Amino acid sequence: MLSMMLPLFILLWGIAYLYSQYFINAAFDRSLIRRTYALADRVEVLQGQVQVDLPVAARELLVFDQEDLLFHSITNPEGKVIEGEQDMPPLPAKRGIRPGQLIVYDGTKDGERVRVAAFGLSLKGTSATGTALVQVGETLSHRSAMADRATLAIVIPMLLMTLTAAAAIAYGVGRGLEPLSRLRDRLSARQAFDLSPVPLEGTPAELRPFLDEINSLLQRLSEAVDAQSRFVADAAHQLRTPIAGIRAQAEAALASARHEDAHHALARIAQSTRTMGELVQKLLILARVDAAENTLRLSLLDGVKVVRVVAREWAPQALAQGVEIGFETKDPEARVMGDEQLLREMLANLIDNALRYGGTRITLTVCNSASGVTWQVTDNGPGIAEHERGAVFAPFHRLSGSVDGAGLGLTIVQRIAQLHGATVSLAAGEAGTGLAVTVRFPSAPA
Ligand SMILES: Nc1ncnc2c1ncn2[C@@H]1O[C@H](COP(=O)(O)OP(=O)(O)OP(=O)(O)O)[C@@H](O)[C@H]1O
Ligand SMILES: [Mg+2]
Repeated sequence: MLSMMLPLFILLWGIAYLYSQYFINAAFDRSLIRRTYALADRVEVLQGQVQVDLPVAARELLVFDQEDLLFHSITNPEGKVIEGEQDMPPLPAKRGIRPGQLIVYDGTKDGERVRVAAFGLSLKGTSATGTALVQVGETLSHRSAMADRATLAIVIPMLLMTLTAAAAIAYGVGRGLEPLSRLRDRLSARQAFDLSPVPLEGTPAELRPFLDEINSLLQRLSEAVDAQSRFVADAAHQLRTPIAGIRAQAEAALASARHEDAHHALARIAQSTRTMGELVQKLLILARVDAAENTLRLSLLDGVKVVRVVAREWAPQALAQGVEIGFETKDPEARVMGDEQLLREMLANLIDNALRYGGTRITLTVCNSASGVTWQVTDNGPGIAEHERGAVFAPFHRLSGSVDGAGLGLTIVQRIAQLHGATVSLAAGEAGTGLAVTVRFPSAPA
């Protein structure tokens, strides 16, 4: 702001300086001219000879000044100086001065800049002929001191005014933009799926039409997203029955197939329909999670209890596969704000992964610390290489070698975590083997 105003200020200062110089010069020139005429009045002609009658008091007035050096001279028509200075700064016009003409000009005298008024005094009507030259000059100290003072008198209030204006503008603009930057902070803190309207209270009236537009856009967007996830849910629901039908038929045919080729083909059909059924099931869950966003009611849960119950539920299935599920916590209680159904779904997906890809042991850990509650599902399987960890959250992303899954499990886990304001991170398990999935909840209100 100031950098923009500085050149402008210098320009104004220059104009002020030139203006004051002009008016001060005019005033000083007028006084110089007056003295020239007064001196010309003293010129008389006696028997054809030009003479000057200058009383002492008048001479003193002509030469005395506190600051400037004053000087004068009178030259007769023959070009001889009959009074005052011998070496006056020469007239600017080469052809001299016409009778009755008065000019004021700049010159130098003894190396100093001076200003001189010259008057051509016509001697017509006297016993002499031609024109006498009357000159009065002065140095410029007084003028430039006056010009400096006048410039300062203009510039200092102007500078103060400029600085005050700049400060006022900077303050005003800063204050005016404050609601906007608050709004920006609020918007940038939002989760990607948060399409709730921007609150209007505390925003200036000028911003209202703009915010109304944004809110109406968000409203339309959220309706479109809802419609889309409803469609996916409906489609998944509709697919479920025919897929189950095909699978049942394929399994029935498989049981009675005699020919080896037919047996083989039917086995593949049965396997594919099972996978397809799981995919549709996962799509349905994902669509439900998306739809839950707008109706989500988080309640205060005991995070220890939720995890313990889920671990117990999965134990028989794990045991059947030769996998041991352990539950560990040091804390008797861990408060979490959440939706129990969704959180159980999240854990189910993590345990399902650990059973499918992990090793022989799964550990569920709950930890309650000052920064919030964390849940951890650890297995001792092959784990996920560090460079793959970011990618596995993307829908339909499976690592090479995993043939079974639909690739939606971790996507569902992450969406549910986001709905709870929680984060999911992957790391190597204990002793650097296996996978440890950590869900970090924000601290719940006391
Ligand atoms: N505990 C784990 N150990 C090793 N690899 C894992 C583990 N969990 C997930 N992965 C890898 O991450 C990929 C993505 O997992 P995700 O749960 O999203 O999909 P999926 O298990 O393949 O399919 P879905 O869960 O939808 O049936 C998996 O295909 C698997 O390769
Ligand atoms: Mg999975």
